[in-house]
Amino acid sequence: MTEQLAVSGLSAGYGGPPIIEDISLTVEAGEIAVVLGPNGAGKSTLLKSIFALTAVSAGSIRLGERELAGCKTSALVPLGVSAVPQNKNVFASMTVDENLDVGTYAAPPPDQKATREKVLALFPDLRDKLKQPAGELSGGQRQMVAMGRALMSEPKLVLLDEPTAGLSPAYLERIFDLLLDIRKTGITVLMVEQNARQALQIADHGHILVNGRNHLSGTGEELLADEDVRRLFLGGTAA
Ligand SMILES: Nc1ncnc2c1ncn2[C@@H]1O[C@H](COP(=O)(O)OP(=O)(O)OP(=O)(O)O)[C@@H](O)[C@H]1O
Ligand SMILES: [Mg+2]
Repeated sequence: MTEQLAVSGLSAGYGGPPIIEDISLTVEAGEIAVVLGPNGAGKSTLLKSIFALTAVSAGSIRLGERELAGCKTSALVPLGVSAVPQNKNVFASMTVDENLDVGTYAAPPPDQKATREKVLALFPDLRDKLKQPAGELSGGQRQMVAMGRALMSEPKLVLLDEPTAGLSPAYLERIFDLLLDIRKTGITVLMVEQNARQALQIADHGHILVNGRNHLSGTGEELLADEDVRRLFLGGTAA
């Protein structure tokens, strides 16, 4: 099931002055959009706001026909929204299998066994690790557990905050390949990334945030070719 995400005029923060202001972006059904920007730009705050983990002061967040702004996080999961946070995204002392199970608590899929098989087909590396505590896995494998857990509720939209942070180049490639596999399943993906070049290469659209505001949006290709983007985010060299 695919649904468009439409964020419009979104302002949010943590109780003080707004951290993000008047943010608008659309992710077409089944597409991958990447949010880029300097440290502290408000990228994580944007994802957290969509997942109802901040105080939203203005704007709307629509998934398909449904307004999400004002819903609690616990209500968002059954509506088809899943999120993988930037840090501490697995339960280290629980096994991989148990971590995947946690993904079903807020919104049990109709056929949990079938969903689990689908998730393990996407992340075959996890098959022989199912009984291991997630904390014993490598960073890349833990990221797969976190992504797998997020997919266990059969989401329409997945929010991913820096899925490749701290990973070796080999795992980084693997995670980006997995994102393309997830795209093939029709799930809409909104992710934050620091690895701008690779992210723009796989993304349909990119959105650059600066100081909590929209700075520039375009297709992955357009942003890869943009002079400012190259200078600020791609090390100034040709793609
Ligand atoms: N829980 C919080 N309470 C108060 N302020 C916060 C909180 N989390 C983040 N902030 C502030 O919000 C601003 C934006 O932070 P945010 O984490 O959204 O940035 P980011 O773009 O994700 O940065 P990074 O690239 O470092 O992950 C920062 O000034 C930060 O200090
Ligand atoms: Mg962040």
